[in-house]
Amino acid sequence: MQKFLNAVTMSAAALVLLSGNALAGSNTQPAEMARFDGDVVVRVQPRGDADLRLMEQLSDDPWTCGTSASGAMDYRISRQQLATLTLHGVPFSVLIEDVQALLDADLAERNQPFENRAYFDNYADYTGVSNYVNTLVATYPGFVTRISLGNSVENREIFAMRVTSPVPPIGGVRKPVVVLNSLQHAREWITVTSNLFMTTELLSKYNIDAAAKAILDEYELVIIPISNPDGYNHTWTNNRLWRKNRRVTGTNTRGIDLNRNWSVGWGLSSGSSGSLSSDTYRGPSPLSEPETQALSNYMLGVPKVVAHIDIHSYSQLILRVWGHKYEDPNGLASINRIGNAMRNSILAATGANYTFGGSEILYLASGTAPDWVFGTLGAFSVTAELRDTGTNGFVLPTSFIIPTGNDVLAMVKTMIQKLCRADFTKDNIVDDSDFVAFAASYETLTTNTGDLTGDGITDDSDFVVFANAYSQLVCP
Ligand code: ARG
Ligand code: ZN
Repeated sequence: MQKFLNAVTMSAAALVLLSGNALAGSNTQPAEMARFDGDVVVRVQPRGDADLRLMEQLSDDPWTCGTSASGAMDYRISRQQLATLTLHGVPFSVLIEDVQALLDADLAERNQPFENRAYFDNYADYTGVSNYVNTLVATYPGFVTRISLGNSVENREIFAMRVTSPVPPIGGVRKPVVVLNSLQHAREWITVTSNLFMTTELLSKYNIDAAAKAILDEYELVIIPISNPDGYNHTWTNNRLWRKNRRVTGTNTRGIDLNRNWSVGWGLSSGSSGSLSSDTYRGPSPLSEPETQALSNYMLGVPKVVAHIDIHSYSQLILRVWGHKYEDPNGLASINRIGNAMRNSILAATGANYTFGGSEILYLASGTAPDWVFGTLGAFSVTAELRDTGTNGFVLPTSFIIPTGNDVLAMVKTMIQKLCRADFTKDNIVDDSDFVAFAASYETLTTNTGDLTGDGITDDSDFVVFANAYSQLVCP
């Protein structure tokens, strides 16, 4: 099988094999797919506002959407425009020499008709992912429930999974919930496979890995693999590099950046755009989109969300709140303890080097999901930017699926293990100050501040859980 096999010239036998792979969905390329012939991706080191404005003129597709700590920014531009950069003396390096060749090679590789292609050997389209969720439900009865959070602009279902062991919750209502959503941004395909890989690993190792068992016995994970179904579909049928949702916003403009549409810190021009054609267009009002409404309404209905990761790519970062301002969040000491542990556990598990920090290591982003989760629900929440660091950007070869899935497995396990939820004062020690905070909530009964069991109220069952944590004093 030659490497750059074209979908059109593929043999009938190969097509039969592919269509037989129901889980993976079809990887054949539709004729109307957008092409990027002659395009490159450059990493620019802007010397000031003039360089930034020049890049805005040259590129309609920034791959990073703000200045990063190093100051570097990635843009897709045409090869001819390199001369303009040179002419103006803008410092740059070429990250991706030929965007279309990368896309072609990627498609050819995904179309290799391996006879027994396992699910995580390949990316899957919307239907393929939905089928895989059904497979998990069937394979792990009593552990996985499929739920629906709502529908997208184009009426696709935003499906999700509730994942927990049959061990009943203390108090009998519901365990504390950890929400893990991927693909608010359509082109970040690796986030979908990584989220599903992590879920599958926890389920399949339940009987042999004490850590996986503890997580599923004590918590419920809510997994939302495709937060932006229309955008995802569009990247399979029309444009592999689409980012936003598919809202019609004008004659020639489409899409709202869902991760600029959340209601905490919404509307700032430092970190989002009011322009319809921008890739970070925030939408006409906070939570204007059915996709952000579906996710936020679902989370508001959960008695106790205790942690959340909004999964993106690329750059290998774990970003704490706040996204929309440089101000320190309450409980920074605790957030830093958990975030640094997550970062270190990824390095130990897979060798991948992630950086943990606040907006100063990337750029301000206004109206993001983690700011909403932290600001509205008070839960620990981070943005994860998965692999790579720019060599392939959004178009990661399938060989990245399992390694990057293992990054997410490590970060999720560590985040949950490090939560230390009885540390109400967030100083990394469970002591008398926490007892005071717990007692105040216990007094009121109806508040969920001291709720450690996940049922939404602070009562005697929480007292038992608190007493146990208090006796251990130090956070993990
Ligand atoms: N790449 C993400 C986006 O553009 C990152 C946003 C998260 N936050 C931040 N702290 N800058 O939506
Ligand atoms: Zn993203």
